Amino acid sequence: MDLQIGLLGCGTVGGGVVELTRRRAEKIEAITGRRPVITHILVRDLAKQRPVALEHEQLTTRVADILEEPNIQVIIETIGGIEPAKSLILSALKAKKHVITANKDLIAVHGAEILETAEQNGVSVFFEAAVGGAIPLIRPLKESLTANAISDLKGIVNGTTNYILSKMTETGADFDDVLKEAQELGYAESDPSSDVDGLDAARKLTILATIGFHAKVRLDEVIVTGIRAVTAADVAYASEIGCVIKLLAAGSERDGVISLNVRPTLVPKAHPLAHVSDAYNALFVRGDAAGDLMFFGRGAGSLPTASAVVGDLIEVLRNIELGVSGNEPLIRLQKVVNSKLSEPLKHYLRLSVEDKPGVFAKIAGIFGDSDVSMETVLQKRVKQGGAEVVIVTHEVSPVQLESALLALQAEQSVQEIHSVMPVEVAGG
Ligand code: HSE
Repeated sequence: MDLQIGLLGCGTVGGGVVELTRRRAEKIEAITGRRPVITHILVRDLAKQRPVALEHEQLTTRVADILEEPNIQVIIETIGGIEPAKSLILSALKAKKHVITANKDLIAVHGAEILETAEQNGVSVFFEAAVGGAIPLIRPLKESLTANAISDLKGIVNGTTNYILSKMTETGADFDDVLKEAQELGYAESDPSSDVDGLDAARKLTILATIGFHAKVRLDEVIVTGIRAVTAADVAYASEIGCVIKLLAAGSERDGVISLNVRPTLVPKAHPLAHVSDAYNALFVRGDAAGDLMFFGRGAGSLPTASAVVGDLIEVLRNIELGVSGNEPLIRLQKVVNSKLSEPLKHYLRLSVEDKPGVFAKIAGIFGDSDVSMETVLQKRVKQGGAEVVIVTHEVSPVQLESALLALQAEQSVQEIHSVMPVEVAGG
């Protein structure tokens, strides 16, 4: 029996969904008893070139053609962004249609309202593709790993920044040059800010943390630092001390307090996340029963994203066949989120200082006064009378670090603090 589907948007992801749904229709019918058929596609411009040749799918610019079509039971949203996607999804749910979306911006900020609307209307919303593209992350966290108390979620969840940092590491080039090249090759957007400033990763961390820690988590509770300030010098020093720099999205729960950070981080080369290069994504998960797990794969792209979307579609079809709603359970738990209370970590600091007797002693004194112990110190003369000092501290709490940084800023022989980044522990 055919099951009619309405698709919102027909860009890169939408085109992949059309292609994969057609390719797998027979298998899906064998599994679920329903043959998925995309009958209508909502687009803005009927004349625009599509990434896939359309056959029986009817293009329309009228929302009502889809939302008021009683035979359409499932809506797949691939428009992205907040509006009009949000209004369309809410209207679809109110029209008792199941919704599948790849929209992390929307789920990160309005996920609770959307899930609540689905619950009130007895239909489901699935969003596996919103984080990590093809990599199964939402369902494992929501189902397979539910028996665990998850203490850590650490991931590389933005392909654009991972591509840029990987190229900086391979070639020794600076951020601006690699970004320009990535834009020319189509790996980075012409406006790259949501990727390079860390917001895309923060949205994904918000979704992962909500499900993984089973708690209400808001996007504005994530402390975010992007990668614009990472220099070729930092990449080279990181390598000298056995690390690579990655934009890590890290969530942890300790004694009931959740902390969430997205920031460039020195990852020891022995850590599994250090080997995740180019545009790949990965998530490291630590559960009290399961131990350590690592998920790895393609985080974006037409068919990789469609793989997750059509996987959700199969789940919806199964639920329709079984006569159950398949609702995402609403998370109602409120836990303490204080990202400033993240656990003590080693830190990397790069400073320009005056190259004269007694400067090291002053810096060592400042660290000692703030109860910060130094693990590694490197010094390079960079110009007449000036030196660059790289320090790796032992584990330091955010409060201790802040106190040391304030004292360093006030010290006359410290000319500039260029970089401060955490250093991940080798075993995760
Ligand atoms: N802009 C994202 C990235 C892809 O670079 O990973 C979609 O989530």
